[in-house]
Amino acid sequence: MTSGELGLRNDVYRRPLATALERLGLGAGWCCADVGAGGGDVSVALAAMVGPSGRVYAVDSDPSARDAVAARAAAHGAQVLSLTQAAEDLILPEKVDLAFCRFLLPHVIDPGAAIARMAGAVREGGWLVAQEPITSAGRIGGRPFSMPEATHPDVGAILPALVAGTELTIVDTWSESPAGIGPGPVADYLEQITGVDPGRDPVVLPPLVTVIAQR
Ligand SMILES: C[S@@+](CC[C@H](N)C(=O)[O-])C[C@H]1O[C@@H](n2cnc3c(N)ncnc32)[C@H](O)[C@@H]1O
Repeated sequence: MTSGELGLRNDVYRRPLATALERLGLGAGWCCADVGAGGGDVSVALAAMVGPSGRVYAVDSDPSARDAVAARAAAHGAQVLSLTQAAEDLILPEKVDLAFCRFLLPHVIDPGAAIARMAGAVREGGWLVAQEPITSAGRIGGRPFSMPEATHPDVGAILPALVAGTELTIVDTWSESPAGIGPGPVADYLEQITGVDPGRDPVVLPPLVTVIAQR
């Protein structure tokens, strides 16, 4: 599977992910960590790309995520190993070619510590890719998004600075927002995460800031 295919066809934030992975040349045999893996959508997509000779560590602080990841991985025959750890305490069994996170940092206590641990897990020449939102920059019918339960809802706005504070070198950064009006994947995603059907209100989902850095 190439990064253009990704096995994430319903994921509205799939395009920035595919762009980032393409940029790295991620492929067979890579060893990756997906930190804050949740249900494992990205972990399994990465595993499909690295193939049986590669490995993906799906790391999450919530142990209940393990079952969902295992079920998804088994269905795809993917090499995914679940680890229950907080990102701020990340310890992997080996250095990785890619340390990845997406929609993790709004929920951690200390985003800087999490990014530093992820950077420390990367082998010489390997990569860190972080994709995090600026929640309040999203709009529904012109009104800003909010994420009251998150500790750092706008962490994407400082993500380049967090990565610049590590020993890695930033290679690229950009920001990308899926947008739409009426029925479609953007409205479906919004309804899934907020329970709100936007109807005919235009939706600009929170921009996802991507930072790609290399050791
Ligand atoms: C919104 S989900 C992200 C899902 C996935 N990364 C994606 O892009 O589809 C956030 C995940 O981060 C996990 N999480 C929250 N705080 C964490 C921490 N300190 N360390 C590791 N995982 C954490 C949560 O348990 C949850 O599964």
